Amino acid sequence: MDALTMKKAAGEFAARYVEPHMLIGIGTGSTAYWFIQALGERVKQGLQIRAVATSKESAQLASALQIPILELNDVDEIVLTVDGADEVDPQLRLIKGGGGALLQEKMVAAASRRLVIVADERKQVQQLGAFPLPVEVIPAGWKHVRRRILEMNCSRVELRGNPQPFVTDHGHYILDCYFGKIEDAHALNISLHQIPGVVETGLFLNLATEAIIARADGSIQIIR
Ligand code: 5RP
Repeated sequence: MDALTMKKAAGEFAARYVEPHMLIGIGTGSTAYWFIQALGERVKQGLQIRAVATSKESAQLASALQIPILELNDVDEIVLTVDGADEVDPQLRLIKGGGGALLQEKMVAAASRRLVIVADERKQVQQLGAFPLPVEVIPAGWKHVRRRILEMNCSRVELRGNPQPFVTDHGHYILDCYFGKIEDAHALNISLHQIPGVVETGLFLNLATEAIIARADGSIQIIR
């Protein structure tokens, strides 16, 4: 199976988890895209659900498929959120934010009873860190934040977007941080949050409850 087929398989598999009248969280990215498409198909066939989106892009896609979208502030607990990831380790720790939606994704994940990750096998790692860690920052002070991160054993920090910085849904910038292997993700997350100007990090720890991994041989692996 190629990458696209694996993403489609994982996304479609996750759509089966959705039950009538559920309040669900809708992820962002090219794997979550297939989940939203499959969900749209079920809604067309009469499934009634309500959803909260993790990005403007996913909200638009879901709305176009007649999936009712609510604001995060207007709901209580989300029963199930399905989202992609850039890296997944065996303990279900994640790096997210490759698509730039990490802040809303983390808020939706934190409001969810279950966070199911959909990914292809290329996202599985033994240790997080090969994928540059996205850190969402306040634009006015990003250069100072970059300097502080570079002092933290990080070999390279790049402002996302060229020549114009990428601006998130919440009006912030993203720094892609090359830490290499991350030995202690919890400690790193805490240290990054202590830098004034850091809004959120792409380290998702103790949030995912399950991962649906599509493999190149056509099988689906569930990690819990
Ligand atoms: C967006 C994300 C995405 O879920 C992550 O980048 C994975 O995307 P894709 O499924 O396209 O590989 O975190 O902020």
